[in-house]
Amino acid sequence: MDVDFDGKLLLVGAGNLGGALLRGWLASGMEPGKIVVQDPGPPDHIIDLMKTHNVSCVEEAGNQSDADFSVVVLSVKPQIMDAVLPGVRPFVRPNTVFLSVAAGKTTGYFEAGLGDDLSIVRTIPNTPAAVGRGITAAFANSNVTPAQKQHCDHLLSAIGEVVWVENEDLIDVATGVSGSGPAYVFYLAECLALAGVSAGLPDDIALKLARATVSGAGELMHQSPLDPGKLRENVTSPNGTTAAALEVLRDSGDMAELMTKAVAAAANRSRALAK
Ligand SMILES: NC(=O)c1ccc[n+]([C@@H]2O[C@H](COP(=O)([O-])OP(=O)(O)OC[C@H]3O[C@@H](n4cnc5c(N)ncnc54)[C@H](OP(=O)(O)O)[C@@H]3O)[C@@H](O)[C@H]2O)c1
Repeated sequence: MDVDFDGKLLLVGAGNLGGALLRGWLASGMEPGKIVVQDPGPPDHIIDLMKTHNVSCVEEAGNQSDADFSVVVLSVKPQIMDAVLPGVRPFVRPNTVFLSVAAGKTTGYFEAGLGDDLSIVRTIPNTPAAVGRGITAAFANSNVTPAQKQHCDHLLSAIGEVVWVENEDLIDVATGVSGSGPAYVFYLAECLALAGVSAGLPDDIALKLARATVSGAGELMHQSPLDPGKLRENVTSPNGTTAAALEVLRDSGDMAELMTKAVAAAANRSRALAK
């Protein structure tokens, strides 16, 4: 993966996600001198990372007001974005792209705060980004050039896969599928462990079995070219144990229907938070 590009990058917020991006960029060989981090209190492991690579860190974006950044990555909590925007406004240039990972902050929000002729990429990553195995859904407004889109794609690929959607409304749907999705998978592991305990397994063994099953199945799906449906069929013998369990998951309140409702609820909440 090559995340190198011309010009400097300002990373605003180097917490969980911003820190994972920074780690990914440095690991993939991005020149540390091209990166400026602005964060009043990054976690200790990110401070160590920045020291090791000599990445500059400033508390206030205003300290860099002379700099010409080709990319500004906004990775702060959505609720403090209002307070952060005035600090990054001096970096708006015709060739600058603003890349936001903040849940629920629309391109319209950034256009209103920074200018409507601005290049803005709105994204929704997910928590496996912490181990470089995230997936990010991204949307580019009409001002983003093909070269800027490619830069952003490279930058985001430092934390996993990237998909681009043509319609911004689909970012809310992606929030319901992949943004919030890791929590559904963790919940599945919790429920599987609880079911094992109810059926007589000791707590620690049930948890170990459930955890390894979910992570192992995830890894198998990651490595296999087969669709999840085919992988499921491959482990389901007619009248076997898996078939007996899947019949229950389908017949008593169909899991697909439940998941459809869950994703719709998350997407609706994402739309409501964006207002
Ligand atoms: N974590 C994920 O996997 C994930 C997934 C999808 C989307 N996101 C989005 O990513 C964004 C960041 O989430 P996160 O989990 O990385 O949050 P986080 O760990 O709290 O990181 C935010 C960082 O911004 C710093 N900060 C606070 N005020 C600032 C300011 N005025 N200027 C610059 N930096 C400031 C925080 O410092 P203090 O801690 O000292 O306040 C912290 O280091 C959010 O908008 C979230 O919606 C995250």
